[in-house]
Order: sequence, then C-alpha cells, then structure tokens
Amino acid sequence: MNAVYKKLMTCVESVRKKIDFQPEVALILGSGLGDYADNIKIEQTIDYTEIEGFPVSTVKGHKGRFVFGYVGEVPVVIMQGRVHYYEGYKMSDVVLPTRLMGMLGAKKLILTNAAGGVNYDFKPGDFMLIQDHITLNIPSPLIGENVEELGARFPDMSEVYSVRMQNVIEKIASNMQIDLKKGVYVQLTGPCYETPAEIRACRTLGGDAVGMSTACEAIAAVHMGMEVCGISCITNMAAGMTKEKLDHSEVQETADRVAKQFKELVTEIVTNI
Ligand code: HPA
Repeated sequence: MNAVYKKLMTCVESVRKKIDFQPEVALILGSGLGDYADNIKIEQTIDYTEIEGFPVSTVKGHKGRFVFGYVGEVPVVIMQGRVHYYEGYKMSDVVLPTRLMGMLGAKKLILTNAAGGVNYDFKPGDFMLIQDHITLNIPSPLIGENVEELGARFPDMSEVYSVRMQNVIEKIASNMQIDLKKGVYVQLTGPCYETPAEIRACRTLGGDAVGMSTACEAIAAVHMGMEVCGISCITNMAAGMTKEKLDHSEVQETADRVAKQFKELVTEIVTNI
C-alpha cells in the first residue's frame, strides 16, 4: 500500500476507535480563532498526541487537538491548531489532518488563517475571502506516488475555492455589515516573515495576502473531492509596506482584537454553507 495512505489510514483507525461521529463540515482554525472550538457544543476532543502516527504541532499557542461537536445543528470537526510546513514536517504530513477530516466524512472544508496584507487597499483587522492562491514557493502536498484512493494524479485546480461557497459567504458578510475584502492568498514557507522585495514580488505576481499555511491544505482537500472555502484575517501589513517591523505579537494582537467578529462570521458560515 502507498506509504502516505497507510499512515493516513492508521490515523483514521486510531480516531475511529475513540469516536463514532459523522462530521459534515471540517474547520481549520488560524491564529486568533484558536478558542472558537471551546464555545461550541462539544461532543468529544482528541489531542493530536493521542493519535498514532499523527504530526504534532510545536507552535506556542497552537493547541493541537480535534474538537468534534455541533455549531448550531451542524456536525463539525475542528482542528484547533494546525501543522505548519516550517515546523519541519513533510508536506504529506502537513496535509494529513485535512485528509483525515475528509476520511471521517466531512465533505466541506472551511479554512481560516492570519495573513499579512499585500494589497494597499487592505488594513489590519480586515477579513479577506480567499478567491484563489499562489503556491509557487512551496512544494505541492501531492508530490510523490499518487494516492489513488484519494484522487487523480493531475487534479484540476481551476476552482480550488468553491464559487458557490464564496457567494454564500459574501451574502453572509454583507448581512453582517462586514466589509469583506477579496483576493489571492500567497503561501510561503515561513517561518521568517518576508522581505520587502519578496512582498513586492508577491504583489507583482497577483497576490493580495501572504501567509504560511492554508493553500497546501486546500490542494489536498480538492484532490480528494472536498468543497473548500477560506477566510484570512489580515493581521498586519506585509513587510516594507509600513515603517513598522513585523512581530508575531502584532499578529496576535490584531487577531485578538477582531476575534469576536471573526468567530461570529465563522459561525454564520458553518451554519449556512
Ligand atoms: N507574513 C506571513 N505570514 C503572516 C503574516 C505576514 O506578514 N502575518 C500573519 N501571518
């Protein structure tokens, strides 16, 4: 059996032994949204460390567990704390949790993250609906022998972020009187923030926001047939756009400042998507 698939199935079986729950929607929480899962109707939580063979996050403030429960009536599985490529994992491990949630039955995936604004029309605290992404700087999570059980060798990526979902999210934001920005997310490896020249390059390439996650997860999800959407919280203007130097505490502060609204938006999305 394909080694990546074998590892995935070991994790799936390990989770299945602990819980019999059928999620409809999978949600990955980015910086600032981490405690969202604490306030839903929780059925059960599983720490990543309890799952055989599971990559475990090392980032401070990233909790590292699956939360199974209900947002309204909707059965969800939430990743509270994601796995990042910059932590040193192989891309196939970075996307393993996404695939696992898909294997548990989730057909829809909502991705969230904190991102740097590359578009001068954005300001810290804005939310950006991800319309598309650029991953030219990171390896594809699909490199290696194709996992036929999941999807095709050469999957189409012309609509990674579901237009149907985007339309729903735009309506929700408008009803909530949120000035939702839209744009292209560029995933870079991190962990260092970008240089001003790299940010100019991102802008020239057509990027509106930069970050260190999300796009790889979206690729893996689309590969296995999930419907995907994503929202970035613009926590800071990217390197070189202001006189300020970048600091993780600024990212955290902005994320915390708008967390309440971000959570309300996510709840509306989960229950209407
Ligand atoms: N760059 C990359 N990742 C980020 C940033 C940034 O400016 N802000 C939040 N995550």
